Amino acid sequence: MVDVILGLQWGDEGKGKIVDYFAPAYDMIARFQGGPNAGHTLYVDGKKIVLHQIPSGIFRENKTNLIGSGVVLDPVILQKECEAVASFGVDFRKSLYVSERTHLILPTHRAIDRASEAAKGREKIGSTLKGISPAYMDKTGRNGLRVGDLLNKDFHNKYQQLRKKHQQLLDNFSFDEDISQAENEFFEALEFLKTLKIVNGEYFINDALKAGNKILAEGAQGSMLDVDFGTFPYVTSSNTITAGVCSGLGISPQKIKEVIGITKAYCTRVGSGPFPTELHDEMGELIRQNGHEFGSTTGRPRRCGWIDLVALNFACMINGVTQLVMTKADVLDNIDTLKVCTKYMVNGKETTHVPFQMEGSKVEAVYKEFEGWKTDITGIKSFKNLPPQMDTYINYINETLGVPVNYISNGPGTKQIIVAS
Ligand code: GDP
Ligand code: IMO
Ligand code: MG
Repeated sequence: MVDVILGLQWGDEGKGKIVDYFAPAYDMIARFQGGPNAGHTLYVDGKKIVLHQIPSGIFRENKTNLIGSGVVLDPVILQKECEAVASFGVDFRKSLYVSERTHLILPTHRAIDRASEAAKGREKIGSTLKGISPAYMDKTGRNGLRVGDLLNKDFHNKYQQLRKKHQQLLDNFSFDEDISQAENEFFEALEFLKTLKIVNGEYFINDALKAGNKILAEGAQGSMLDVDFGTFPYVTSSNTITAGVCSGLGISPQKIKEVIGITKAYCTRVGSGPFPTELHDEMGELIRQNGHEFGSTTGRPRRCGWIDLVALNFACMINGVTQLVMTKADVLDNIDTLKVCTKYMVNGKETTHVPFQMEGSKVEAVYKEFEGWKTDITGIKSFKNLPPQMDTYINYINETLGVPVNYISNGPGTKQIIVAS
């Protein structure tokens, strides 16, 4: 049986904390897509750590953590991260596995990402510049190198051939940074990667399923950043939705049981692209400060706004969400009036659908207002002790989305989570 945890917004919903919280109930935690564009924050013994490549189950004892086939892997970042988790006493050599089909991010992928974004100027995607899009382009373009290729004698030749292609692209962009140092680090990190447990991911996970193991699939990014269903072209380059679990891990849809969708009590986005409920005023600034909304991977300030039920409804639909986790509810503790987006006005017409294109259309959010709870909720341990205004807020979301909010996260700490009874 496979349960899924994924983000329903534009990323940074708190997936790291929630996966770490759920992990003890599972045997294996598997990342199915994305790469080091992800930044998943966890607190371990009160100390903060941000994971980019390693699944967020790594700090739980006796768990298997798999970097799945659908992931793109930067070996330099992976090595640093392995060293970081080892400093917490984690024996990653025992618990971390990498699928041989996982595609590698090359130093030239990162260079192409930088060059391509620079060339886009004002139209840039706001990429994390980790080489995600060029690596996935090489995967779908059938040029990429995979972890399993490392073990073949002709790896070096294949690398040089691909590097040549990349150089032509870089020349077109008139890109002239010296990447030789990055290449040295890459080759050193590949030697490290070879010493890890490299497995045939699809047999590995299906054998585990046959043996009755429980698997938790960990999403990266969020549904509105999905390459097919997000706010294209301002998206990432992978399928961040439940469907990505099957293609990213090599499992059948029948194996998937619970789909646990995470939403913040409000909404954030980092990078460019449409964001109908964005706040450009002091309220946006207040939420940013209360929620420490600065990117875990890039440190960029996150754009902040009200919760968007049109986008969330869409995300619940395409993912088949069975239950919701609402994170960062405490961030709204000191706000007098809360707003919830219930509809859009698109070019003057009311709709509850996410339009094909938000760019270029005039999309305005229509709001319903709620009284704020004006209470410190960070110490609350049970649903029955929630302030009544918060009950009203949560109930409205439950009813509108038709999916229950079963968990409310009320602080960054591992234990700060309220469970519906
Ligand atoms: P992810 O990418 O979805 O794992 O999320 P990030 O780690 O990028 O961002 C979430 C941020 O919010 C992190 O700094 C977390 O420590 C923090 N966080 C998670 N849950 C809560 C919560 O319930 N309340 C507060 N105040 N912070 C939280
Ligand atoms: P986690 O897993 C928030 C955004 C980038 C940019 C767009 C494309 O921590 O939630 P990319 O580097 O993928 O080419 O960038 O997607 N983005 C994220 N935003 N959280 C993330 O991951 C993100 N990963 C990518 O800011 O707008
Ligand atoms: Mg993040």
